[in-house]
Amino acid sequence: MAGKSKVTVVGAGNIGGTVALHLALRNYTDVVLLDIVEGLPQGKALDILESGPIERFDASVVGTNSYEDTEGTDIAVITSGKPRQPGMDRSELLNDNQEIVSSVTEQLVEHSPDCIIIVVANPLDAMCHVVMETSGFPRERVIGMAGILDTARYRTFIAQELDASVRDVFALVLGGHGDTMVPLPSMATASGVPITQMLSEDKVDEIVQRTRQGGAEIVDLLGSGSAFYAPAAAIVEMIDAILLDQKRILPCAAYLQGEYGINDLFVGVPVKLGAGGVEEVIELDLTDEEREELEHSADDVREMVEVLHS
Ligand code: NAI
Ligand code: 2OP
Repeated sequence: MAGKSKVTVVGAGNIGGTVALHLALRNYTDVVLLDIVEGLPQGKALDILESGPIERFDASVVGTNSYEDTEGTDIAVITSGKPRQPGMDRSELLNDNQEIVSSVTEQLVEHSPDCIIIVVANPLDAMCHVVMETSGFPRERVIGMAGILDTARYRTFIAQELDASVRDVFALVLGGHGDTMVPLPSMATASGVPITQMLSEDKVDEIVQRTRQGGAEIVDLLGSGSAFYAPAAAIVEMIDAILLDQKRILPCAAYLQGEYGINDLFVGVPVKLGAGGVEEVIELDLTDEEREELEHSADDVREMVEVLHS
């Protein structure tokens, strides 16, 4: 990626606008914010740009309704889609968002055939399939954001329970971005000390359950729409890792081809993220129980993908 990079964020809603602001504050890439609603991306982009003199950034932030402005994008983030409402399951968004995501992908790819796509719209794992099938991209260049968010929620709840800094809490959530996601107690530590040594089994179970319901908890509190601050932070962590070739090992939805015994399916697993996108899928030694839970979660994703194809 010689010269200044370009990130296109499709969907100038809650997540898209917040991602654009984070990126502008980082001041290391040009940003294009695109939406179908006229005025919305232009208004948000201009508002962000006008914070430049105060925040001292001079990156270009352009709002648009035209894919011509996305030409030469290095990373495209697809947030366009309907969000969850109270009482709604992520899977209920399947049909509406499939249409939106496939048409967005077609237009992105036409103007930026070499870009890396970060998928955000829900139901996340199924939308990754839509993007991969529509774009024809290799698996290195289609990555779903969910694991970093789910893991951040898990880490937050663990830190709260331990009354310890969240900066010292490391953890991992595998699986699909749904109720059967797999937060791993065996991998959760505070500065290397296993949480299973510090918290009772019941407490750990409670935290795991709250993590699985983390998205719904925010939806219920907000009353309209879904989480966007933590999702945006998670997306930006992925963009940093790719644009700055950081080789971060982060949980993301990746297309598995035999890893974890799973084939031809997007599932959340740790991957190495660098300039090439997904540069490696990291395989962990799971216990029998963890492996079963992962398979169960993968089955849920597979069911949703079958609905896409039906
Ligand atoms: P939002 O409703 O605030 O923004 C969505 C934006 O997409 C709107 O501005 C809308 O006009 C735009 N849009 C719709 N169709 C479009 C099209 N064809 N082309 C361009 N733009 C289009 O929603 P929010 O909160 O930003 O969430 C976006 C998506 O991300 C939702 O599907 C939500 O469920 C999902 N999400 C995923 C998470 C994850 O972990 N992967 C976490 C949180 C939300
Ligand atoms: C979330 O986890 C709803 O997927 C969205 O916040």
